[in-house]
Formats: sequence, structure tokens, C-alpha cells
Amino acid sequence: MGSLHERNPSLWVGTTEPGDYPPLAGDERADVVVVGAGITGLTTARLLVEAGASVVVIDAGPICAGATGYTTAKVTSLHGLTYTELANHFDEGRARLYGEANEAAIAEVARLVDADGIECEFQRRAHVVYTTDPAMGDSVAQESSLAASLGLPASASAATELPFDVVGAVRFENQAQFHPRAYCLGLARAITKAGGRIFTHTRARQIDGSERTVVTDRGSLRGSSIVVATHLPINQMGAYFARCEPKRSYAIAVRVGGDRPEDMYISVDSPTRSLRAASDHLIVGGEGHKVGEPHDTNEHYVNLENWAREHFDVKSVDYRWSAQDWSAVDGVPYIGRMAGNDDGVYVATAFKKWGMTLGTSAGMVLRDLITGRDNPWLEVFDATRIAPKQSLKGVISENVSVLKHFVGDRIGTGNRQTVDDLQPGEGAVVRVGTSAVAAFRDDDGTVHARSALCTHLGCLVNFNPAERSWDCPCHGSRFATDGAVIEGPAVEDLAPEEL
Ligand SMILES: Cc1cc2nc3c(=O)[nH]c(=O)nc-3n(C[C@H](O)[C@H](O)[C@H](O)COP(=O)(O)OP(=O)(O)OC[C@H]3O[C@@H](n4cnc5c(N)ncnc54)[C@H](O)[C@@H]3O)c2cc1C
Ligand code: FES
Repeated sequence: MGSLHERNPSLWVGTTEPGDYPPLAGDERADVVVVGAGITGLTTARLLVEAGASVVVIDAGPICAGATGYTTAKVTSLHGLTYTELANHFDEGRARLYGEANEAAIAEVARLVDADGIECEFQRRAHVVYTTDPAMGDSVAQESSLAASLGLPASASAATELPFDVVGAVRFENQAQFHPRAYCLGLARAITKAGGRIFTHTRARQIDGSERTVVTDRGSLRGSSIVVATHLPINQMGAYFARCEPKRSYAIAVRVGGDRPEDMYISVDSPTRSLRAASDHLIVGGEGHKVGEPHDTNEHYVNLENWAREHFDVKSVDYRWSAQDWSAVDGVPYIGRMAGNDDGVYVATAFKKWGMTLGTSAGMVLRDLITGRDNPWLEVFDATRIAPKQSLKGVISENVSVLKHFVGDRIGTGNRQTVDDLQPGEGAVVRVGTSAVAAFRDDDGTVHARSALCTHLGCLVNFNPAERSWDCPCHGSRFATDGAVIEGPAVEDLAPEEL
């Protein structure tokens, strides 16, 4: 994301300093170049400076303005029904390692908060996964008994603090919550204090694995190792864009009268509902959908507010925000050596909306890989894995041909709206001659016109009314109404168009 200027700033962005460091000026080198200053990049950098490496971190925006600045920030090893899924798709051994990696991440966050004196409202809380759907009761009970058998702090209970009955719940003790941006700003301070260098407002445009070079809009960086912590790798690196699905979801921070739940909650029902307290607020989240689906995204905020009012005495809605995260086809993050690249290029992506722990585990795995230590979790997260009989080249070319059809079909048949139809605040893809133009009319009536072809692989973008952005349905790139890239895999802005 890399912007503090999203239309709907989160509670975390709204209550912290900007987090700007100087931009890169000229060329630099270091043992390790980390691209991306969210929780993944900053944890990796923090652990590497502690291990004695020289580190440079860059970010396209300020510190922690990507997904980490727009999360709900539960720090937990209980991720829906993940242990059942892992045991079914792989085996219990892998599920056990996944649990250990996430439990270790909670402990590592606690250690860093303490070691670096970070004031980030870090609090130990239980996390509870619940269902109100009788059809899901057995699945939740099974998750609880499996997790307990794997040595995790799990118990089953249908008694919760929630203001409605649940059919079943699995509860993990001694999990945590924090203010994610205050935490990341603290990590950044610890990195520079230990000699690491951070450059913000510096966008990587190309990463050359064989040369170990990162070409940015402000100079080049060379490192013995390069860590790509840009949420999803940029451009076509490792073909992760073709193997991960991006989903957006929504959150509101409300003030309520009466009691708020102390513990953290998430349902496995549809639609998902997520709850946690934060300072004076109660955060209510959910409403996931695939990025770039054309619909009125404002409805998701309305649905969350209606649900909150149904169950709590809502006094005010103070913040609302949305963000996205990627999931791998097999549900397991990719952490380690980047597929299709020389040794020395590393990746961490596809956290499936659980990146507070998984981004921290990633930092631990990557620190160990780069410094030559063994790490027991590497086999679970292996970032070079692809389905049998697939090749990276095959994955990319299949994906590109799907896109060509998608783009061709849409230009041929749809988008008949004209610019004159647009009301202030509205955007639409309109046809001008043979071009597809992303047209937005701002509140002053001025129309901004950009090419509607995503600069990643040329898919047609759709307008997202709630965030006033152009979102790509193919791999989740997003652009501002002036065409500036907000988040990747794209790294170039939408091209200007004449109307
Ligand atoms: C609504 C929502 C709620 C969530 N709630 C939880 C939760 O409760 N608990 C949990 O564990 N997880 C949660 N998650 C998931 C979690 O927020 C993410 O998995 C995590 O923040 C990802 O961190 P990251 O560092 O990998 O990515 P980011 O935080 O996005 O950081 C990537 C950084 O890379 C930068 N960047 C991108 N491209 C470039 C480039 N070309 N050059 C330079 N820099 C670049 C960006 O500006 C950004 O700062 C949630 C996600 C969503 C969407
Ligand atoms: S994000 Fe890949 S084509 Fe748009």
C-alpha cells in the first residue's frame, strides 16, 4: 500500500506519527537489502542487525503504511480452522510445526517489545474462534481437540463474553494484541539505533536476483542478500502473483456504552465477524471479498456498522478502513528462498490475514537462512514449492493467456457508461475509441483520466467506490485516482489518457 493517504485511515494510522525517513539519494550497498517496511521487512531487518549484519531497508511509502498499518493486529497462533486443514491436506507433523512457528512468533514479539522498550499497547489476551452455525459445531470441536493434541494452548468452550449465544468455540490462552504501527515504528527505531539504514518514499522498480541489485526510483542498492518483503513480490518475481489470491476485508473502530469483550474473537461463519478491544475502541471486522470485484464497496462498512449496532450500544463510529492480504492456493505462506531466483533472494508472502505472527516467523526464518543457521519451520513454508508437473514458466504463461481473454472480453462488450454520466466521487471504465479509460470525477467536478490497463500484466481495473481507488481483479494491484500505484505487484502508475 505504502500510503498514509488512503481515503479511510485506520485507527493505527490515525494515532501515530507519519514514520518518514529520508529517501535514498544515490547508490548504497549492505550485507542485506530489505525491500518493504511492514511487519515482515522490519522484523527481518531488526533480527539481522542483532545478528551483526549490515542492513538497508527501503519502502515505497512511509514506515508501516501497508497492510500492517491497516490490520486488526491480533497476535495469535489460532487461525480459524487451520490445524484441521493442514492435517487434512498435509499431515499432523506439518500442522504441529505451523503451530510452533506461530507460538514462537508471539514470544518473539513479546521479547522485542521488552528489549526495545516499545510502547505499543502489547497485551496478553485469549483468542477465540467461534461459530453460531449448528452445521459448523463439529468442525470447531475437532479443531480444538486437534490443536490440544499438537501441544497448543487450546480448549473447547461455548461460554464466551459475546452478547449472543454461540454453538461452539475453540479458545487459545496467552495470545496477544497490540498497536501494530506503534510496534513497527519501535522496530524501525531499534534498527537505526543498531546501525541499520532506512530509506522511505523509495520504490523498488526492478530486482535483479543474479546481480543482487535493487533498482529504485532514487538509485540502486546492492546486497549479498535481498529480502523481498513487499507483501506480494513485485512484477513477476517467483510467479507468486499467479499462485496467490488477494482478498480485501473491512474494519470499523467504534466507541460503545457498557462492557466490551476483553478477549479477541473471530467467527468461522459467513460472513466472518472479528472482534477485539483497542484502547477506547471496539474493533469490528469482516466482509472479505476478492480484490477488484465490481460492486459498491461502501456496503461492507454499512454491514459492519449494522452488525455492531445490533449487538453493542454503539456511541460513535470513529474509524473505518479496509486492506487486503494474499493466500496461497494450498493455504500455507511462502517463506524462504524465492522460487526461480539465485540463492540470496528471499521472499515472505501469502499470510492469509495472519501476518502479525507469520510475518514475525518469517523474520526468524529469513534471519536463520541468511546467517546460515538451521530452522525447523523452513520445510513447512518452503517458498520454492509448486504443484507437481508445474513449472514457473508454465504458471506465468497460463496466467497471462487467461488475462488476455479477460481483457479482450471486457473491452468488447461492457463499459458503455460515458464520462458525462459520472457524478462527483464516481469512477468508471469508459470506452474512448478503442481505449479503455479509467475516468474519475472528483468532488470539484474535474475528471481525471488514466489508462484502465493495469501496469502489471494489462488486466482491466475496476473502480472501488469506498476507497476511491482503481483495483485490479487479476492479482490485486491498486492505483489512486490520479493513477499512482498504491500497492503491487505493479510498480508503475496508470498511464495518462486524453478524453
Ligand atoms: C483487514 C485485515 C485484518 C487483518 N487482521 C490480522 C490480524 O488480526 N492478525 C494477523 O496476524 N494478521 C492480520 N491481517 C494480516 C496482516 O495484516 C498482514 O498479513 C501483514 O500486515 C502483512 O505484512 P507485510 O509486512 O508482509 O506487508 P505490508 O505491511 O503490506 O508491508 C509491505 C511494505 O512493502 C512496501 N512496498 C510494496 N511495494 C514496494 C516497492 N516496489 N518498493 C518498496 N517498497 C514497497 C509497502 O509500501 C509496504 O509498506 C489482516 C489483514 C487484513 C487485510
Ligand atoms: S495485478 Fe496483475 S494484471 Fe493487474
